[in-house]
Amino acid sequence: MRNQRTHWCGDIGKDTSGQKVKLSGWVQRVRDHGGLIFIDLRDRTGVVQLVSDQEKNSRLFHEVEKLRNEYVISVEGEVSARSPETVNPNLKTGEMEVLMENMTVLSFSQTPPFYLEDDVNVDENLRLRYRYLDLRRPEMFQRLQTRHRAVKLVRDFLDGEGFLEVETPFLTRSTPEGARDYLVPSRHHPGEFYALPQSPQLFKQLLMVSGIERYFQIARCFRDEDLRADRQPEFTQIDMEMSFVDREAVFELVEQMLAYLWEHLHGEKLATPFPRMPYSEAMERFGSDKPDLRLPLEMKDLSHLAGESQFRVFQQALEKGGVVKGLKVPGGASLTRREIDELTEKAGEWGAKGLAWIMITEEGWKSPITKFFDEELLKRMADFLEAGSGDLLLFVADRWETACEVLGQVRLYVADLLNLEFKPGPYFTWVIDFPLFHYNREEGRYDPNHHPFTSPLEEDIPLLDTDTSRVRSQAYDLVMDGVEIGGGSIRIHDRQLQEKIFSLINISSEEAKQKFGFLLEAFEYGPPPHGGIAFGLDRLVMLLTGDRSIREVIPFPKTASATCLMTGAPSPVEEGQLRELKLEVKQEEEKK
Ligand code: AMO
Ligand code: AMP
Repeated sequence: MRNQRTHWCGDIGKDTSGQKVKLSGWVQRVRDHGGLIFIDLRDRTGVVQLVSDQEKNSRLFHEVEKLRNEYVISVEGEVSARSPETVNPNLKTGEMEVLMENMTVLSFSQTPPFYLEDDVNVDENLRLRYRYLDLRRPEMFQRLQTRHRAVKLVRDFLDGEGFLEVETPFLTRSTPEGARDYLVPSRHHPGEFYALPQSPQLFKQLLMVSGIERYFQIARCFRDEDLRADRQPEFTQIDMEMSFVDREAVFELVEQMLAYLWEHLHGEKLATPFPRMPYSEAMERFGSDKPDLRLPLEMKDLSHLAGESQFRVFQQALEKGGVVKGLKVPGGASLTRREIDELTEKAGEWGAKGLAWIMITEEGWKSPITKFFDEELLKRMADFLEAGSGDLLLFVADRWETACEVLGQVRLYVADLLNLEFKPGPYFTWVIDFPLFHYNREEGRYDPNHHPFTSPLEEDIPLLDTDTSRVRSQAYDLVMDGVEIGGGSIRIHDRQLQEKIFSLINISSEEAKQKFGFLLEAFEYGPPPHGGIAFGLDRLVMLLTGDRSIREVIPFPKTASATCLMTGAPSPVEEGQLRELKLEVKQEEEKK
């Protein structure tokens, strides 16, 4: 079986003209033109046209006639330039064809459930059900290749910077990343469970205690959470940790790593350093902790002007310590009443109590609430938002966070609705100075925003005792074009500070000991100051390939309900397996 090809299909170009070549691959299409048959032959590099001419070789022609889509063949022939009128400009190899001289059929195929070509519109579920066929398409191969190259470049770069790749266990204990765990029952210890890691967080911190200094891992992580286009139950992190660094040192290294990636993958120089933006600013201006800076729309705080109006909704929000946020939508006056109602309904779903709006038209203000504002105030509001005729002003009055978040969602939604132009990316931003905690209303306590090992900002430590909600952390996210591609922090390595944080988030010392005792104990043996970051590899590759879902760049992804359509996982298991694990499934209750 040696040498079933001398060339890849995608390599057949002018420079191979006149050469005898041997190609192997799959039959993508058979076109019978009477005495001539054209075959599109595909391998992972692309498609090339083969020609069989009845007059030149009728025995071969009759063999070729029998070919069907997706048969696997090996052919020998001569590369020849196509006549000008038959050149296919959409095909990389479209100027050439191969005149068949010999052919072997290596295997047969059933009719595939969909055409295995690029740019075909196939239901995603069908693609996932037959993923092995879907992956035959060169477009999919290119995605896998980009992923492969990105990982290799990251490995090369980090190796050059003295990082050591270390594997950490899959069968472990719960890691506090805020999602549900996937649990694995233990046969040796019935009634006890391993948790699959939500991230290697605790192990990488232990590796710093071990003096590894610079760790990385291309690590699979498992999180049982609600899935979306950018979330999968298992996904891959580029996970890193460093000792003796501050935030800026982490940023610098990461910027170099991404610049290295971009240069090698896209031949482009990235502008570094990336801008840093405090969380509060990201929320104020873009209503999101992952602002998409390609969209040139910014929100403003209009509380001072809104307070002068007679509109009860605004007044009440301000009296309660809330704010009124405003957004100018350029050209938004073209929206229909129905579209505005839809937008208001959406804002409600996102958590707003309502969405106030004012249209500026040639005929004047158009809005259900103008009666509460005098003409002069309306003008000042429009001026403040730099709005003019044709624009739409939108307002949300609420608690600061809600008002910002909802209007931030509205910002993205109207951009889509009105087809507003995005500037070409990529825009990278470090979002910094996150609040260390958020207040959990239901439980009446503070929860860590990141995880409990994230260090507060040095200058905010005194606030821990006086104004907990204002303490900012040394956590950071890296955002690219509205997608959070990475997040990390400088960690606490001081035992007393760690205990204080635990007590603030209502974790008793017993509970802390039980959950993270091994880490706390390790911290009694000379932990160096350390910090790190983890990138969502799938998200990074998705952005590199220009896709909109990470499912496109994961070879065997799960559906939105966490199933694998190809293998049928998850699935029931045999009674005997359950017995061994001393597990019982309560079917009656599930049915209820
Ligand atoms: P975090 O939870 O922010 O941090 O995760 C880091 C990055 O992983 C990606 N990511 C995901 N990608 C796909 N599907 C998911 N379900 C998913 N969840 C997260 C995101 C995110 O930015 N241990 C910390 C890192 C640290 O502190 O060093 C951590 O896991 O791109
Ligand atoms: P209402 O007085 O509740 O009928 O509301 C009048 C207008 O104000 C409607 O267009 C509502 O959508 C809007 N509105 C209500 N509550 C808010 C709010 N918290 N922020 C912004 N607009 C609101």
